[in-house]
Amino acid sequence: MKTIFVEEVGGSREIDIYSDEGFALLSDLWSRSGWQFRSFHDVSWLGVPILQLPQDMVMMQELIWKTRPDVIVETGVHLGGSAVFYASMLELIGNGQVVSIDLTIPRTTRATLAAHPMGRRITLIEGSSVDESVAAQVRALIDPQARVLVALDSDHSRAHVRRELEVYAPLVKTAGYVVVFDGNMELLADAPGGRPEWLTDNPATAMREFLAEHPDFESDGYMNRLGATHCPAGFLRRKGQGTSEVVHGGAERFDEAVGAFRTEQRRVRSALEASVAEERRRHRDAVAGLQAVEKRSKNSEAKLKEEVRVLRAELKSVYRSRTWRAGRTLALMGRPLLRLGGRSPSAR
Ligand SMILES: C[S@@+](CC[C@H](N)C(=O)[O-])C[C@H]1O[C@@H](n2cnc3c(N)ncnc32)[C@H](O)[C@@H]1O
Repeated sequence: MKTIFVEEVGGSREIDIYSDEGFALLSDLWSRSGWQFRSFHDVSWLGVPILQLPQDMVMMQELIWKTRPDVIVETGVHLGGSAVFYASMLELIGNGQVVSIDLTIPRTTRATLAAHPMGRRITLIEGSSVDESVAAQVRALIDPQARVLVALDSDHSRAHVRRELEVYAPLVKTAGYVVVFDGNMELLADAPGGRPEWLTDNPATAMREFLAEHPDFESDGYMNRLGATHCPAGFLRRKGQGTSEVVHGGAERFDEAVGAFRTEQRRVRSALEASVAEERRRHRDAVAGLQAVEKRSKNSEAKLKEEVRVLRAELKSVYRSRTWRAGRTLALMGRPLLRLGGRSPSAR
């Protein structure tokens, strides 16, 4: 299979599955097809259920390592898996706190997180993330110099996410990120398990409105390179050189290092491909040489057999003629002896 047919409003179109467009389309189709199964609901992180795609969490890990946040503000706790995930990344780095907000945080969730080894890095705040009192509590917990990463994953309506962006994006310094989860809802409006209103009422619409009004933020498409995601274009970066680069040697140098690594990776790959091609060529030559020797040896074996056959035939004829002549000589020699009445030499 090399192409897929796509039916669009203006007619149908054939798309090469190995092109960038084909990969993007297949990634979207993967999300659409899988949405009905909600398989990502059955995933846990360090024993706590988490409602995320693994690809998105790998990208969050990259972001946390790259920007080294002092605080991660998360809206939408659910059972606590993403809070534990972020806390475990901060634990590995050795610095940082997660502030997680949810409308309701059941006692069981509080108990699970309190008993969890990562719990000491998590502060829970109950209430709506867009309530001014909740936002004030969050701000009070954050040092003005702190590097902050924001993850929005609570109420996914356009209005709510739009408001959350206004409340929490100002906490992010230059080169920091706000991540908007579940922007893929707009692609799922007509999928099994989706809703028609998601076509416009979704986090992606809120995010586009926010970007149009805040030119200091941009969507970092590099963070969507894995294809399948619940955050299409949802990694919003605050533009410019910022604290995270200056203090930690940062994001720009990281991107440069990734670029250099890729170039080196390409160089090593092409060197390897060249050496594999050379090995294959030598192998082919050696096989051809062996076959030629085999053929030559078969030919000379046949020749040798023929020579042996001829020699045997000659030997036979020589033997026969000698035997015949010897017999005849004997016969001639024996005749006078017999006639004289003497005994033949063999009879003595
Ligand atoms: C998709 S879940 C969060 C999943 C979680 N981040 C994870 O990955 O495991 C959404 C959560 O947002 C919460 N929520 C809904 N509306 C909210 C609001 N206005 N403020 C804060 N949280 C809200 C819900 O209670 C629910 O627990």
